[in-house]
Amino acid sequence: MTPDRLAPDWLTEGAAHVWRPYCQMQTARPPLPVVATHGARLVLADGRELVDGLASWWTACHGYNHPHIAQALRDQIERMPHVMFGGLAHEPAYRLAKRLADLLPGDLNHAFFAESGSVAVEIAMKMALQFHINRGEQGRIRFLSFRGGYHGDTLATMTVCDPEEGMHSLFAGVMPAQVIADLPRDAEGEAALDTLLTQRGGEIAAILVEPLVQGAGGMLLHGPDTLRALRRLADKHGVLLIFDEIFTGFGRTGSMFAMQAAGIEPDIVTLSKALTGGTLPLSAAVASTRVFQAFLSDDPEAALMHGPTYMANPLACAAANASLDLFEDGAWRAEVARVSAALAEGLEPCRTAPGVVDVRVLGAIGVVEFDAPVAVGDLCARFADEGVWIRPMGKVIYLTPAFTTPDADLALLTLAVRRVIGAD
Ligand SMILES: Cc1ncc(COP(=O)(O)O)c(C=O)c1O
Repeated sequence: MTPDRLAPDWLTEGAAHVWRPYCQMQTARPPLPVVATHGARLVLADGRELVDGLASWWTACHGYNHPHIAQALRDQIERMPHVMFGGLAHEPAYRLAKRLADLLPGDLNHAFFAESGSVAVEIAMKMALQFHINRGEQGRIRFLSFRGGYHGDTLATMTVCDPEEGMHSLFAGVMPAQVIADLPRDAEGEAALDTLLTQRGGEIAAILVEPLVQGAGGMLLHGPDTLRALRRLADKHGVLLIFDEIFTGFGRTGSMFAMQAAGIEPDIVTLSKALTGGTLPLSAAVASTRVFQAFLSDDPEAALMHGPTYMANPLACAAANASLDLFEDGAWRAEVARVSAALAEGLEPCRTAPGVVDVRVLGAIGVVEFDAPVAVGDLCARFADEGVWIRPMGKVIYLTPAFTTPDADLALLTLAVRRVIGAD
């Protein structure tokens, strides 16, 4: 592939002015110019179509350009693209908050909206810190999070990511240190965490975890028992439990929310990514009634002082409501099971390929893990030559396609992985 020769003018002219994500700008290959999307496919400027194995960083769960979401967006943009949320209210956000409360288990009933996942996590962290302050308990100023975890790129969320494997080790020492531990995977792990919390629990505001799958940390899986252990420990030591379901929420793991596989609820859950079906940025930190009530007071200072300018953007909320409509008939369950089976079957032969140490599948997530970090740029280019868009990370090549990806396109994705890693 020779992207330079095929580059459209806008790419050539704008390239010097766009600072790209996770990118060494001096040496990176040029990005692939995308001019349209449909279904599970990206259309490139040269007319080629790539099957998208990632659903645009795990957002486009129903596939691209879904007519129901597109229509909801058209209707909303004609009526009201945006109004500030301070002192004003609008139907898309109020309907969405009610629907999320109905959909989430337990009494996770109070949604605070923002625009990105990282900001939702920051808000959840702020809620947890202030929850204890409002209740007159000082000194709970840190978070307990886990090796392998990823919660965002903003300064505060960087502190709760994996300190070594994550993308933020450069900043060690710049921000306040949190308590980072191993996820408890058995009784011994739970006992070790219990000891840690006995020693340091008084300084911990909340335990923060991605339930079932640590996504950006390498698609690392753990079981529902781990989540139940965390709930027990949080209750025992009087700390809050935050589930970051920004990746796992909305069906990705096979349950609507990963927490449902464990039958327990956190005190706060963060949502984003597939919330709008992959159309517009929107996120929420949804608190339990106990957390919410700790902010009710005659004292104005007890309020949550937060309010991103574009929070609860009506267009984004309309997209989220339309996406929830699509989940309503429950057909997504069979789709996720179908994708899961195709990934399991199609990736299984990768086990014997050079350097592969594990192949694992959960819901609509398929992972091939290597014994060392892979060459992301080279692999992306080779995958594009095979007609698919797959962007590995760290030691893993993974697939997180739209739930609606047709069987033939799923087959293309797994074939491409097998061919590129030499498993066929
Ligand atoms: C679990 C989790 N939390 C938070 C984030 C950050 O979300 P955003 O990139 O929208 O800030 C991500 C992004 O990948 C994520 O996977």
